[in-house]
Amino acid sequence: MGSNEVRMIKIAPSILSADFAALGEAIARVEAAGADWLHVDVMDGHFVPNLTIGPPVVEAIRKRTRLPLDVHLMIEAPERLLPAFVSAGANLLTVHAEACPHLDRTLHQIRELGAKAGVALNPSTPPAVLEYVLDSLDLVLVMSVNPGFGGQAFIPTSYAKVRQVRTLLGKRPAEVSVDGGVKLEHAAPLVAHGASVLVAGSLIFGAADPGAAVKKLRDAAEVSKSP
Ligand code: DX5
Ligand code: ZN
Repeated sequence: MGSNEVRMIKIAPSILSADFAALGEAIARVEAAGADWLHVDVMDGHFVPNLTIGPPVVEAIRKRTRLPLDVHLMIEAPERLLPAFVSAGANLLTVHAEACPHLDRTLHQIRELGAKAGVALNPSTPPAVLEYVLDSLDLVLVMSVNPGFGGQAFIPTSYAKVRQVRTLLGKRPAEVSVDGGVKLEHAAPLVAHGASVLVAGSLIFGAADPGAAVKKLRDAAEVSKSP
């Protein structure tokens, strides 16, 4: 039995695909359906060619949900904004390896602020960049699309990368999250390769019933746990 078979799978709906004018309602629906985390995509128009939300919106979300806020920072020089996002209520801050020349320092800053520290890897970034920070991170986010937009197609080489990341982590308890284009058919193979968190935007908020979509994704992910 592989270690992933006893791991609890977390479902993290990405609000990027929700109706921003009715965010409170969208969040309430996925929370009631048993979502584990809320994934919040922060984009700066520089690191990625899109602009989304900042600390004031995170603060507003914090007041509406008890779910841990998994904040994905697709921004240049994220160290400038770490305190603002923690003050706003982020529980987990994920920075991009490609945006952090001093990644070790940045991860320590996140932990010192009292949040969990994550590192995201673009599809072209090799997992080896994590080798010397493995004890300083709580989560690795494998991007399975090029970041910037919801609704893109899942890149199949992500399976091998998830396995490489899990192997690099060894017995460390860090989460391995997968973000981008995740659909029901990817869930079981991702878990089998070592993923412990599945982020999904359009699958959940593009559905007529986002709550039912959360449950379907969990069911699909847990198939691989049965003996
Ligand atoms: C993409 C974001 C993702 C995105 C996922 O840059 O990081 O979190 O919202 O959306 P889907 O599941 O539609 O690819
Ligand atoms: Zn994301």
